[in-house]
Amino acid sequence: MSRADIFIALKPYLPKWVRNRARVAYQQLSNWWHYGDRFFFLSVTMEVSVYCNRTCSYCPNTHYDTPREFMSEEIFAMALNRLRELNWHGIVDFIFYNEPLLDPSLPEKVRRIKKAAPSCLPRITSNGDALTHRLAAELIEAGVVSFYITRHVPVKPGWDERMEELCDLWPNYITVTDIMEVQRKVGLWNRAGLVKVEKEFKVKTCRAPEGAITIDRNGDVLLCCCDYFHQNKFGNIKEQSLLDIWNGNRFRDVRAALRQGVALLDICKNCILRLKA
Ligand SMILES: C[S@@+](CC[C@H](N)C(=O)[O-])C[C@H]1O[C@@H](n2cnc3c(N)ncnc32)[C@H](O)[C@@H]1O
Ligand code: SF4
Ligand code: SF4
Repeated sequence: MSRADIFIALKPYLPKWVRNRARVAYQQLSNWWHYGDRFFFLSVTMEVSVYCNRTCSYCPNTHYDTPREFMSEEIFAMALNRLRELNWHGIVDFIFYNEPLLDPSLPEKVRRIKKAAPSCLPRITSNGDALTHRLAAELIEAGVVSFYITRHVPVKPGWDERMEELCDLWPNYITVTDIMEVQRKVGLWNRAGLVKVEKEFKVKTCRAPEGAITIDRNGDVLLCCCDYFHQNKFGNIKEQSLLDIWNGNRFRDVRAALRQGVALLDICKNCILRLKA
């Protein structure tokens, strides 16, 4: 039984918060074991495409267009090499501010990623608008281990019913989270000052760069998912391995300061987290 199978099999028996904590704790231990760094990134996310069909009010896409552009084959192939050389064991996501299911080559991309890094865990984070029975089946067949679907507002006609059917078919794979519930319970990001939200997410320190290392469509590694304008880059995968980029002095210093609640970069000073300057 593979690691992914164990997580999938446990899903019906454990509440979401227990599963989330167990997954993070497991991933941190695994990172310590594999990469010698307990603060190592928990997931890799790649901006495989740019377009999103929605303009959610709590997302910077509400103010800016999302062109129908894709990560080039050259950058995608290089990203595969970088995952292969890392023998990547963690989650792989396909997002930045896009809707990944609108990329027609997504199943093929998942297949290629599993070939390059067989132990990795491909995940689909999506608004679910384009998720059909056929696409879900194809993605699972390709190697996807989970779908993290957000119920955004406004909810489209038939969305709830379709998602219910899909969850009934694949209860161990698909999780639906209501964004309004997230806002009510913990709050939302202001995306480093780019959007106004009714209730802000506030913490005293930031681990966002450790949650996911972000490779944009040009191969640049960005600070975090809140860097909408791609302004804080720490290296490019065409020139350096993910390990070298991650261990670069500037990136290390920024992350260490954030763990202490100190913002070395201007973007972090605008962030909802209200860190010390
Ligand atoms: C930017 S979206 C991109 C992927 C896809 N379009 C989607 O909405 O799932 C990535 C994640 O951010 C979440 N999200 C969007 N706006 C947010 C906000 N202001 N604060 C916290 N999470 C947010 C979404 O629910 C989703 O899980
Ligand atoms: S939150 Fe997701 S669905 Fe909504 S606009 Fe942003 S990228 Fe699109
Ligand atoms: S504080 Fe900085 S690193 Fe953390 S989420 Fe905000 S912009 Fe990103």
